[in-house]
Amino acid sequence: CPNVYDNTKIKLQVKFNRKEDKDFFYSTYEHTETEVEKDNKTNVMTCKNIKNKYEVMIEKLKNKKLGVLIVGIGGNNATTMLGGICANSKDISYIDTYDIKKPNYLGSVFLSSNLRIGYNKKNKEHSYCPIYKLVELYNPEHIIFGGWDINNMNLKDCLYRNKVFGVDFIEKIKNDLDYVPLKSVYFKGNFIADNQQLRVNNILVGTNKLEILEKVRNQIKEFKKQNNLNDVIVLWSGNTEKTIPIIEGVNDTFINILGACKNNHVSVSPSIIYALAAILENCPFINSSPQNTLVNAVVELAEYKNVFIVGNDLKTGQTKIKNFLLDFYFGTGLKPKSIVSYNHLGNNDGKNLSSDLQFYSKKISKSNLICDYVKANDNLYVSDDDMNEKNMRSKHKNIKNNDFCKGDSLISTSTDTVEIEKDCAFTDMLEKQKVNSDIVIKYVPYVGDDKKAMDEYISEIFMNGKNTICLYNICQDSLLASPILIDLILLVELSQRVYFKSLKMNDSNEKILCNGNINIDNYVISHDMVSNKYKNFKRMDSILYLSSLFCKSPFNSSVYKTRHSFFSQLESLLNFIRIICDLPTDAHLDLPFMA
Ligand code: NAI
Repeated sequence: CPNVYDNTKIKLQVKFNRKEDKDFFYSTYEHTETEVEKDNKTNVMTCKNIKNKYEVMIEKLKNKKLGVLIVGIGGNNATTMLGGICANSKDISYIDTYDIKKPNYLGSVFLSSNLRIGYNKKNKEHSYCPIYKLVELYNPEHIIFGGWDINNMNLKDCLYRNKVFGVDFIEKIKNDLDYVPLKSVYFKGNFIADNQQLRVNNILVGTNKLEILEKVRNQIKEFKKQNNLNDVIVLWSGNTEKTIPIIEGVNDTFINILGACKNNHVSVSPSIIYALAAILENCPFINSSPQNTLVNAVVELAEYKNVFIVGNDLKTGQTKIKNFLLDFYFGTGLKPKSIVSYNHLGNNDGKNLSSDLQFYSKKISKSNLICDYVKANDNLYVSDDDMNEKNMRSKHKNIKNNDFCKGDSLISTSTDTVEIEKDCAFTDMLEKQKVNSDIVIKYVPYVGDDKKAMDEYISEIFMNGKNTICLYNICQDSLLASPILIDLILLVELSQRVYFKSLKMNDSNEKILCNGNINIDNYVISHDMVSNKYKNFKRMDSILYLSSLFCKSPFNSSVYKTRHSFFSQLESLLNFIRIICDLPTDAHLDLPFMA
């Protein structure tokens, strides 16, 4: 059991009725979805409830050995996560300025949050239970970690360089982090900011990007073999890269991107190489940065191989608050009109983001969320005078949504193209007009990891009144981010052990691109026929929507559209846990109290 926070140390046991055998736990779940049809002529919406039953199998952990390879292992987030896990596993005490402290996992949903499991008949109260007690999660303290960094500094020295933990803490754990990062993928072409050049001294060389891809695959294979691991997860925690253009024939299909690697195409970024290598080795890939690593070619391969991919960017401080404040505004019938976010920070992430191209990736990631809320609440904005839709449409008649990243030229830094980028940065520029929104990030070295964030929210209230809320938030950036990295790893590992069987499902629903193996340019790729392995039981979609709670800009699948509501993201995760424990989902209705 990991060194979980306070009350989970109580020897609490939860008993379920669910079936189990030596390999699996079993549960069932009945899902009702409302299918809506809208007749655009009559404006009538017709609703039909569709029921589906699922059988669920949850593989037991037994003696599973999990490894995690981190890209950017010497960075602030990676070393903070590793230092935190190490301190917890050793259960050290350390002096933090004046006081003696103990480590904890605060900020991790899986290791520090409780879930409502039901209603206690005796004392007529709700019953809560730590998630860790309900569901069999992998103990983060048993994970074998390794990883890459473009800088060869030993992790124990990185702890001092990164200035997140105090000296007493570092002295007590540094020998456990005695590790020199693996040689890394680094390409010229401003993928990360020029100001990171001084760090580059630990890189793989090869005649083309395909050769580098092969080298990364071998590194993953070696790590798995050396440590005798059953599974490996690859986590990108490197610097934010620039947004790459989406180009037909280059990164749209897996076959095309292999060709692009061979031809050293400028749009194949280091993060794409890691993602491809991971998936080809059947390792899930998590992108904790904002850039668009998960291009169609990567998605196609992941779906084909039945491997999870998760992204983008971590939802830590400012965006997390924005997310549930938007739930508050729209959920209570208020109408946000202006949301302006400013922050300054002084760590290496801030230094990298002080460069325009990398900042741009972050800006898109931080902005996506508002557009979706506005779309879902369009009726609030129809009468707005300030939205001259017609003008906007004619001004931009040649630019479609997301066109900003089509074609190399659009990410050059000439004044004209930067203008286009700014205008089209958000999923829908008209939505941007409805809620004025801007984001500023400044690099101030002196503040180090202590990020300062200021936000101003102006909303319209009853009878055209105005309500302004200002927030000032000081936080240790990496201490907020690291538990989210742990959660993402635990979620991906858990999801790999969960299989659903729809009792209604028929073959035509199955998303199988090809039976057996495909052979591309000497790349033999086997299709992981999970459904064959467990008689029609399938893992969830490769694009793991359950991770949306943890991601600033949750990545969409072709099957569903991400829900941006914080409440909905949290509840979908908690309901998932209830389902695999064979508990009913929570309708948040207190009907038992009425009896
Ligand atoms: P950092 O700059 O401290 O660490 C990044 C590390 O990646 C550096 O050690 C760098 O040498 C290494 N690196 C860069 N390119 C690489 C490559 N191609 N291969 C191997 N190593 C490479 O940054 P930090 O603070 O750890 O953040 C990591 C990422 O997480 C950034 O993209 C950041 O925007 C994102 N993020 C951070 C949050 C936070 O700290 N609160 C919140 C949300 C996202």
